[in-house]
Amino acid sequence: MRKKLIAGNWKMFKKLGESQALAREIAAAAGSHGKVELLVCPTYTSLASVAETLKGSPVKVGAQDLHWEEQGAFTGKISWDMIKDAGADYVIIGHSEQRTYFHETDETVNKKTRTALKGKLVPIICVGETLAQRDANQTLDIVSNQTRKAFEGIPKADAAVCVIAYEPVWAIGTGRNATPEQAQEVHAMIRKLVSGLYDSGVADGMRILYGGSMKPENAKSLLSLADIDGGLIGGASLKADSFLAIAAAS
Ligand code: PGA
Repeated sequence: MRKKLIAGNWKMFKKLGESQALAREIAAAAGSHGKVELLVCPTYTSLASVAETLKGSPVKVGAQDLHWEEQGAFTGKISWDMIKDAGADYVIIGHSEQRTYFHETDETVNKKTRTALKGKLVPIICVGETLAQRDANQTLDIVSNQTRKAFEGIPKADAAVCVIAYEPVWAIGTGRNATPEQAQEVHAMIRKLVSGLYDSGVADGMRILYGGSMKPENAKSLLSLADIDGGLIGGASLKADSFLAIAAAS
């Protein structure tokens, strides 16, 4: 049985004090959500202090990106061991905002995934199609390509640690979520693909999250589906009550 993962992606929101306050509010209620795993992904400047705030609570911490090199002259980037050093255990990789605005490619997603795994960070690998691709009936092709490339050269034991987030680009921050049927179709396809790449043991154990305008009102219908193992939540994760309401819905 896969434990559901409810992950908040705080993106470029929340200064230090605001991040700590939100983390405290989530931690205070975390005990009543024992059946789900809760994760928050603050911006880099808040990473260490949020990790400190959450110490001793069941709420985990993740970063929103990493560089694939260990260290070096890479202005503006941070490495896996800086993330670990800050107290985080997860890292989001290949978010569509990275792909759209910051030249993330399937190749860099693969490199970052390998580096994260080497550093014992749990990668949350994001995949998803644009609206034009969905309208052209390319959704399954696009998502399976992105998934296949993300796992290229990654051995089975490492793959088993990974989390995938299916995030249709047209649903992110738009208020327009995928219908449960649309999401389930893609999630089931991803699981089947992972089974083919590795085996059914890896596929059955892998958590596949849905992301894209998940909120308390639609969470239950999405999270009750067979292949949806949690959510990667942007907007609705910025307030403790909506984030916790999504956790309660699962
Ligand atoms: P959203 O963002 O919930 O605001 O649509 C999800 C994400 O980008 O991970």
